[in-house]
Amino acid sequence: MEKTVVITGASGGLGSSLAQVFTKNGYTVCELSRTNPGGLDNFFYCDVTSEESVEAAFEGIKGRFGEVDLVIINAGVGIAGETALMPSELAKRALDVNLLGALYTAKAAARCLKKGGRLVGISSAAAFFALPYRSLYAATKAALNLMLWGFSMEEPGIEVTSICPGEIDTPFTQNRLWHIDEGSPHAARLKKIAKKFEENRKKRMDPEKVAKKIFGICQKKRLSPLYIIGAKYKFFYLLQKILPQRAMMALAAKKYGAEDE
Ligand SMILES: NC(=O)c1ccc[n+]([C@@H]2O[C@H](COP(=O)([O-])OP(=O)(O)OC[C@H]3O[C@@H](n4cnc5c(N)ncnc54)[C@H](OP(=O)(O)O)[C@@H]3O)[C@@H](O)[C@H]2O)c1
Repeated sequence: MEKTVVITGASGGLGSSLAQVFTKNGYTVCELSRTNPGGLDNFFYCDVTSEESVEAAFEGIKGRFGEVDLVIINAGVGIAGETALMPSELAKRALDVNLLGALYTAKAAARCLKKGGRLVGISSAAAFFALPYRSLYAATKAALNLMLWGFSMEEPGIEVTSICPGEIDTPFTQNRLWHIDEGSPHAARLKKIAKKFEENRKKRMDPEKVAKKIFGICQKKRLSPLYIIGAKYKFFYLLQKILPQRAMMALAAKKYGAEDE
């Protein structure tokens, strides 16, 4: 029987690649986002920062397709800038999308998934170690992991996993919420980091390949609570398990641009 998957943030980036891979493999794909770039078969308008909007989208899906097999919490936004000067409006927007949006989706999914259905969160390799100027993004993704794992202990009828990819070549960087305070001594360094983000695009993972990996994970007989995608990021994850916190932070500060070059 044909399976149904719901993907949030399916209008672009990784979500759009996921929608294509699942469709190719015979799934009925329900695509949720605020915009419809066209060509989406089963588009449902959804702003994940509004609980009403998420509920309405899932009601629509249930009415049309019945209970679903899989829900992928993919909608997300990056945020970067100096933590001490981050405008609270920007910080709230990131939390609203990455954490509360995921909570509203998980709540709606609990009522829409079949028994034994699966809830997959797209988190980030950034969830495991502090990064300079990306503290809030890392915090939202670390919080997402913990929320999903707590949820899975409460809902034994739903299989839950958190998938943490490293950097992927999507419009994520352009869509990232940035704050650079021109008057701050950190401004030049932040601009250098922003330039590096752009220059490093070629080194990022191909979204289609990442989507195929995620599809493969979703087909496993049993899900682990955590998957990391990208060899470099698996290595960092292991490293942070063995290095003292101070050493790991010094390494992250050097590699991710906090120190003068
Ligand atoms: N790219 C990376 O390097 C990377 C690495 C690790 C993890 N991730 C995670 O992967 C996921 C997908 O990111 P991406 O790289 O594909 O980024 P992206 O290209 O910027 O796409 C983000 C998607 O989220 C949707 N979205 C944003 N705000 C939304 C809202 N309020 N309600 C509903 N949908 C919303 C956008 O659709 P609309 O604007 O149409 O609503 C879009 O489809 C995110 O959770 C991100 O944190 C990305």
